[in-house]
Amino acid sequence: MDRRAILLEPDDIPKQWYNILPDLPKPLPPPINPATREPAKPEELEAIFAKELIRQEMNQERWIPIPEEVREVYSIWRPTPLIRATRLEKALKTPAKIYYKHEGISPPGSHKPNTAVAQAYYNMVEGIERLTTETGAGQWGSALAFGCMLFGLKATIYMVKASYYQKPYRKTLMQIWGAEVYPSPSDRTQYGRSVLEKDPDSPGSLGIVISEAIEDAATHEDANYSLGSVLNHVLLHQTVTGLEAKKQFELIDDYPDVIYGCVGGGSSFSGLYWPFYYDKISGKALKDVDFVAIEPTACPTLTAGEYMYDHGDTARMTPLLKMHTLGHEFIPPPIHAGGLRYHGDAPTLCLLVKEGVVKARAYNQVEVFEAAALFARTEGLVPAPETAHGIKALIDDAIKCRETGEEKTLLLMFSGHGHFDMQAYEDFFEGKLPPYEYPKKAVKKSIEKLKKLYPWIMQLPY
Ligand SMILES: Cc1ncc(COP(=O)(O)O)c(C=O)c1O
Repeated sequence: MDRRAILLEPDDIPKQWYNILPDLPKPLPPPINPATREPAKPEELEAIFAKELIRQEMNQERWIPIPEEVREVYSIWRPTPLIRATRLEKALKTPAKIYYKHEGISPPGSHKPNTAVAQAYYNMVEGIERLTTETGAGQWGSALAFGCMLFGLKATIYMVKASYYQKPYRKTLMQIWGAEVYPSPSDRTQYGRSVLEKDPDSPGSLGIVISEAIEDAATHEDANYSLGSVLNHVLLHQTVTGLEAKKQFELIDDYPDVIYGCVGGGSSFSGLYWPFYYDKISGKALKDVDFVAIEPTACPTLTAGEYMYDHGDTARMTPLLKMHTLGHEFIPPPIHAGGLRYHGDAPTLCLLVKEGVVKARAYNQVEVFEAAALFARTEGLVPAPETAHGIKALIDDAIKCRETGEEKTLLLMFSGHGHFDMQAYEDFFEGKLPPYEYPKKAVKKSIEKLKKLYPWIMQLPY
């Protein structure tokens, strides 16, 4: 019988993370402080981030050692298996070989603890007692609650109100691991109160909830803030997945032609494709591998957003980041892939999309859930709605291979399971999910507003 799960040994857990910054085709445009219009200084970030994480954020070293304490925690669920989806291949009658890197087996159920554990560790070492964060669908919040518990830190999690009520068991999971969880907008921060005053029924958004979590950390000495995606240090912690996957492909003497991943802020996808990108630019890649990022048509940041500087949050507390953006006041349609409803994306990913190194595609949630159901009914695993975006793109390409006869090797980032997303599946089966498309007019309007707010924004020299 052919091996379906390609497994590694505990000693194969990577000892270093890969940092893409020195290998980008152009220098990464720096974060900008809108008050000075100059690059933000590391000291400006120290009020809310651990020093080591700020160092990693701006680091130009290619390899960053993973502390033994972090590797020890990783060994609870890492190395994760690389699995050949033979039953999906058969159902699609495709000559393509389909593999997925299964990050759904971590205790919180996704890739998110790869960075949550590292961030909790560095904050613990620097004497911080509490971490604050935001969570959309609850995957990131539960990962940080898990990381904080393991290193003896308290966790305060602000959860987008729509998800707090849609996914009560994610909240319970965070509470099991000792976190306190509040629906956002909340009355615990000045910014939350100001949103509630204007709109008492606000469903919340990732932009709003980030503002609340930052305000909490910035106004309390004992606390730091922790972000689950977008920033360089977060993405580089995720490269354990790509580094393991490379070893796994060596074991079976194969190499991917295409790598797929959904994109909310870009961390899971980057974790998988960065090490293969390094292979490619250093002439070590066995094939001319393509990278495909997938997002919802309800939040089409890479495919319809503008590449320009914008804030990472609605209250404009973060520095300006150069990224594809839908405007920081974006309130997304209430699609079920809560983790993909972010107005921006990782600056490294946006740069590579702009340079044509990564291709971006968008799908609506109806076609995405059709793909998710097919995956669940062939492979058995129930994907998170976020993960299912990558599955949809991969299935489309596997069908093309059937038509052309190409025996491509396709690799998917299986970023998380959907066991807490049963309501979403139920709504899909009952035909209640609308195929939302975010209107182009709305993007144009919010970008114009941003340019009016900072008339100098397009003149920045980066
Ligand atoms: C399972 C899963 N996949 C993907 C994402 C998207 O985030 P990122 O693009 O940072 O991987 C999320 C975010 O919450 C998620 O929960």
